[in-house]
Amino acid sequence: MIILGIESSCDDTSAAVIRDCILLSNVIASQKVHEAYGGVVPELASRTHQQNIVPVVSEAIRQAGIDKSEIDAIAFTRGPGLPGSLHVGTAFSKGLALALNIPLVDVNHLHGHVLAHFIKEDENTEVPEFPFLCLLISGGNSQIIKVESPYDMEIMGQTIDDAAGEAFDKCAKVMGLPYPGGPHIDRLAQEGDPKRFKFSKPHIEGYNYSFSGLKTSFLYTLRDEIKLNPNFIEENRADLAASLQRTIIEILMDKFGKAIKDTGIKTVAIGGGVSANSGVRAAVQQYCDRRGIKAFLPKRTFTTDNAAMIAVAGYYKFLRGETCPITAPPFARVVI
Ligand code: KG4
Repeated sequence: MIILGIESSCDDTSAAVIRDCILLSNVIASQKVHEAYGGVVPELASRTHQQNIVPVVSEAIRQAGIDKSEIDAIAFTRGPGLPGSLHVGTAFSKGLALALNIPLVDVNHLHGHVLAHFIKEDENTEVPEFPFLCLLISGGNSQIIKVESPYDMEIMGQTIDDAAGEAFDKCAKVMGLPYPGGPHIDRLAQEGDPKRFKFSKPHIEGYNYSFSGLKTSFLYTLRDEIKLNPNFIEENRADLAASLQRTIIEILMDKFGKAIKDTGIKTVAIGGGVSANSGVRAAVQQYCDRRGIKAFLPKRTFTTDNAAMIAVAGYYKFLRGETCPITAPPFARVVI
């Protein structure tokens, strides 16, 4: 079965082709236009999607070495995401599905991130066994998800305020680093002392996360230190980055570890943009190695938004005959 996946929920226009979960192509056009603004500008994102979507889809079909008449269904991100951005992918997918007279499958973007672990680069790619626990950490979400099957996922805990990626990005911004700041913090942290600064950690019940207190404590540290030394940030970049990253990882692992212990599940996975972080990857791997737990860390291309994961999530829905009508609107928030 050949599925074309289309992703346009935020600032990456992506199209991918899979044959029964085996990846034939995955083309991603990232939008540089937002860098100058220090964050994604929704209107610019949707306009750039409009420019990119036709060449990106054509290139994905070309690289897959198939003819568009061979596509069995189109899987598209229906939400959550930016309304304008979602509209571009949704409208394009509908148009193409109508023209090719094939079914449409609507995909929840977050299911896509979780099911990214089922993208096979060849027949030998190892995939997680069910049930597994997934730590989904991105610019918009921080969730612990119990995955019983491709159709059955339970959110055990999630952030009550900022997401982990926002903590990286907002703190990086006050340090004067470009957007998105996560990868810059990751790079700087390699050379810094992670124990140099202490920032506050939340105390919340259960498996929920909170990152806004950390952000405030980071801001206050900078404010107080800059009063004493105006070059404080400049002189302490690496130590600030390393200490911030360590604190975020400790917050993440505290609840994720608790969920792993309480459920007794022996397979875990991570996903979303922040799962590209080298410290997060090392911490999850080390935690699992010590306890005989199997860890699935996605390839970096599959951590951020991509259409391959949307195609795979769509594939599973299509197997059960779950298609969506041509009238289906995108959802900015509602989870499908
Ligand atoms: O999943 P994603 O591409 O989409 C959104 O949710 O928007 O995640 C983007 C997030 C950003 O916050 C970015 O700073 C973060 O992932 N990120 C990282 C790293 N690479 C991307 N955070 C920390 N370390 C990284 N290496």
